[in-house]
Amino acid sequence: MKKKPAYFRVTGLILLATGIVLITAFVTATPAKKFDLDRFIEPDTCGGCHWEIQKQWTNSMHNLSHRDPVYTRVAKFLRQGLTRAGEIEEAESCVKCHTPVGVITGFPEKLSDDLSKTPEIATQGIQCDYCHSAVGVTQMYNNGLVLEPGHGEDDPGVKQGPFDDSKPDFHEAAFSKLHQSSGICGTCHNVKHVAFGTDLETTYTEWKNSPYNDPDPEKRIACQGCHMYQRPGIPATGSTHRPENPGSATEDSVERPHIFTHYFVGGNTGVTGQFGDKDKQDMAVARLQNAAKICLNTGKLAKKQLDVIVTNSGAGHSIPTGVGDLRQVWLEISIRDAAQNLVFQSGFLDGKKELSGEAIIFRTVLGDGRGNPVVNLAKAKQVLSDNRIPAKQQVTQTIALDFIPRKGSVISARLLYRGMPQKILNLIPGEPLGPLPVVEMAKVSQRI
Ligand code: HEC
Ligand code: HEC
Ligand code: HEC
Ligand code: HEC
Ligand code: HEC
Repeated sequence: MKKKPAYFRVTGLILLATGIVLITAFVTATPAKKFDLDRFIEPDTCGGCHWEIQKQWTNSMHNLSHRDPVYTRVAKFLRQGLTRAGEIEEAESCVKCHTPVGVITGFPEKLSDDLSKTPEIATQGIQCDYCHSAVGVTQMYNNGLVLEPGHGEDDPGVKQGPFDDSKPDFHEAAFSKLHQSSGICGTCHNVKHVAFGTDLETTYTEWKNSPYNDPDPEKRIACQGCHMYQRPGIPATGSTHRPENPGSATEDSVERPHIFTHYFVGGNTGVTGQFGDKDKQDMAVARLQNAAKICLNTGKLAKKQLDVIVTNSGAGHSIPTGVGDLRQVWLEISIRDAAQNLVFQSGFLDGKKELSGEAIIFRTVLGDGRGNPVVNLAKAKQVLSDNRIPAKQQVTQTIALDFIPRKGSVISARLLYRGMPQKILNLIPGEPLGPLPVVEMAKVSQRI
């Protein structure tokens, strides 16, 4: 018999009716249990059999979450010079999601620990044995995963997954509803300020409130339904096909109708590119190029107004999502007259790769609680504004012109994406960071 872990209390209500088992678990939140490091198994070991899955996961943003230079340098920069307790607490908390195996085994505990002493396995980020030891979620923000890892390679324990008939001989296997739900992702992909409670990232909530979260489980498209269907050549977004990926979980296992892919690609082309992973870089571009549509309404030009309409056709959450105060999705607009002269422009990068103030940017702006914008999320006490584009919705941006474009002019608009404003990267001391790649998500051009 395995010992019931003492760090959480589970009140189970088991209802056996018409063969349906409903388990409701109330888990009281107590400080995260520390496990011995040797209970976790290296991704390389899992890859011995699941080599294709390991290859997909290697250099994914999950694999790189601890080493990602954009994250590490931004995090260190934001920590500098803080003096208020709540702000320091937030700035120290990053490792809970970015280095989860380290935190749950005792080191690092906080960002300012000597991260060069991080155990090798923990430097490998969000990994196989972390996700596949998850048995529950205490809260849908700030990584509330409850783990039951095995005891290392000699006694690997139970790996939770999508199959209900799996009988591997190396480890035990169990069917897990949690792994099929957005909840396993959502607990990390919703980030709240640890002291002030401000919503810093809300990807899970955005998905939960979207049409993809259909009340009918058969029609619902969870995070996995897009992100774990993508593979080279198949972007698997809300506006493309998401064909199944038949295959087997190891070379000698049975053929399954779908093997979930593990590339975990979002919009990050810069960091995957920096680690030399051309496939994932291309997949991120493909994802971004199948996320949104843009069109023009030229009906009000006589009133010196141009409408640009942007539709979120492919993302299961807002565009952009995640670190919505940092990501830049913006409109680049130009008008050329019949003789090709540029008569209007907005949203073009300047010589320093910065965007001017009047550009239309879809983003969240964090505030200090008194209405002033803050760059440092550790100081964020409010969300001042949020004009991002929710899933399956469209927004119209009206541009006021100071002239009426002549007949024969060409109006062009592009929707562009980059990971972070160059203005912020330029603040970070040391070796220059960036410029990050700019990806064209959608474009439109019309002669009037
Ligand atoms: C971020 C969490 C996460 C990480 C990291 C992760 N997995 Fe998974 N994995 C999942 C989820 C979730 C599913 C099932 C998806 C579903 O059922 O909707 C899955 C499915 C699987 C399956 C069943 C076969 C399949 O792909 O459908 C295997 C085997 C597996 N993972 C092995 C691994 C290995 C090996 C690694 C490391 C190289 C790994 N996983 C890393 C979340 C993760
Ligand atoms: C010696 C080979 C081997 C190694 C090493 C191995 N697995 Fe497996 N694993 C299998 C086989 C075989 C299956 C069954 C596949 C099937 O049923 O289609 C499996 C199934 C799984 C499943 C699906 C379980 C389910 O019920 O849905 C997960 C998740 C999984 N492995 C994760 C891991 C992780 C994480 C590691 C590393 C800690 C690992 N495996 C190491 C052979 C292995
Ligand atoms: C209907 C398909 C679909 C579903 C469902 C979906 N996504 Fe996405 N996701 C996308 C597309 C398309 C993009 C690229 C556009 C973008 O960055 O917003 C994306 C981007 C992302 C990014 C990168 C965001 C950025 O710009 O930095 C993250 C992180 C992410 N998704 C996580 C999730 C999580 C977590 C869930 C579930 C709660 C989820 N996604 C559900 C399609 C989907
Ligand atoms: C333990 C916390 C954790 C869990 C669980 C988790 N993620 Fe993540 N995820 C992260 C972190 C942290 C990053 C960002 C790493 C970075 O950018 O340095 C990330 C990055 C991503 C990205 C890439 C974003 C980009 O900008 O390209 C995608 C896509 C993604 N996750 C999807 C998922 C999905 C789908 C699941 C559920 C199957 C999931 N995640 C579960 C923490 C987690
Ligand atoms: C609750 C989990 C969680 C915590 C805690 C967390 N993050 Fe993240 N972080 C994420 C996820 C999920 C993403 C991916 C979202 C996306 O791609 O937009 C991410 C992405 C990032 C990125 C983007 C990296 C890139 O390559 O573009 C930066 C920068 C970042 N986080 C900084 C921080 C800092 C600084 C802290 C601590 C103050 C922190 N994070 C704490 C979950 C977390």
